[in-house]
Amino acid sequence: MPVLRPLTLGPYQVWPPVVLAPMAGITNVGFRRLCREQGGGIYVCEMITTRALVERNPKTLRMIAFGDDEKPRSLQLYGTDPEITAAAVRIVVERNLADHIDLNFGCPVPKVTRRGGGAALPWRRRLFARLVRAAVDAAAPSGVPVTVKMRKGIDDDHLTYVEAGLAAQEAGVAAVALHGRTASQRYSGTADWDAIATLKQALDVPVLGNGDIWEADDALRMVAHTGVDGVVVGRGCLGRPWLFADLEAAFNGRPERRLPTLGEVAATMRRHAELLVDQFVAGARNPARGERDGCTDFRKHVAWYLKGFPVGGELRRSLAMIESLAQLDDLLGKLDPTEPFPVTALGQPRGRTNSPGKVALPDGWLASRDDDTVPEGAEMDDSGG
Ligand SMILES: Cc1cc2nc3c(=O)[nH]c(=O)nc-3n(C[C@H](O)[C@H](O)[C@H](O)COP(=O)(O)O)c2cc1C
Repeated sequence: MPVLRPLTLGPYQVWPPVVLAPMAGITNVGFRRLCREQGGGIYVCEMITTRALVERNPKTLRMIAFGDDEKPRSLQLYGTDPEITAAAVRIVVERNLADHIDLNFGCPVPKVTRRGGGAALPWRRRLFARLVRAAVDAAAPSGVPVTVKMRKGIDDDHLTYVEAGLAAQEAGVAAVALHGRTASQRYSGTADWDAIATLKQALDVPVLGNGDIWEADDALRMVAHTGVDGVVVGRGCLGRPWLFADLEAAFNGRPERRLPTLGEVAATMRRHAELLVDQFVAGARNPARGERDGCTDFRKHVAWYLKGFPVGGELRRSLAMIESLAQLDDLLGKLDPTEPFPVTALGQPRGRTNSPGKVALPDGWLASRDDDTVPEGAEMDDSGG
């Protein structure tokens, strides 16, 4: 059993040392509350783009929403321009919008990497260091800790994680999170926990390991294998927010793991939908529309909740088209509440598992590591993915 301590993140001590990974379109205030109701840890908001924040984009400002009891309030920023990033960080700290800022350098989406953003950016080492330092310096007067989240590199021939980790540490970050995949792997194959161990060996600041934690015991295995100070959990909790209860139990050395019946899963689905409706009603001018928008947002979660349960295609399709909570209640009432949890679904990948591919990059990107020109057009205007 590894030595387990709370994760130190600047002024915060986090127990269990568990982080809900930022997931665009998923980790909104409603989903985070649902997960927080299960266990302790840090729960990161959906990604916010620095340009949209600086331009006071109304949708972006609405997305920066936290529960009254959310502490620390954790926000992820995406940026490629040190000045815009610093301006965004100043807005966050001056308006007291969050208690922790994570910087996203892991996004493998072609529309982002093609312009030199996300997982492509650490390759430009001077720009990367400048950007991280700009964020850390802008946050410093407030004491808000800044962390970075990154991948191993662009592909196996262009790895950046150790150098980028050291540069981020030098710039003053409070922790570094590594997803053990390259951008070219996207979500395929398996995460390289050896790389996470290598990074842990190289840095003095806390290192967080990310990739392929499907069950609570995977988190303990990752800590034992790599020596990391904490784990970041993404896809494993999709349709299984109770994973955070299992993680808390596991880190406290308790053996119990949840295997909810279909009736208990249905109650969790109802709670999730209700929290999304609350979130959208709070942000809407017209409450009726808020209920519909909350239900629409919930639809993408239906297949994850029902994965492995014997539920017919027609009922699944109807659940994935709900427009109101009344409709949801009616459909959930048709499920067999006594159906046991499908243990075959345990330990299995869920969410994105796409195939690897060549990473789209700006012309000449790989040949110019020391060029620190801000890439043209890589600051996205829309938040959340
Ligand atoms: C739907 C989805 C959206 C994501 N959005 C973000 C994001 O906005 N910022 C980020 O740093 N990572 C994002 N990620 C990556 C996750 O944070 C995480 O690094 C990745 O899923 C690997 O962890 P896992 O194996 O536990 O899922 C996203 C992943 C998924 C599946």
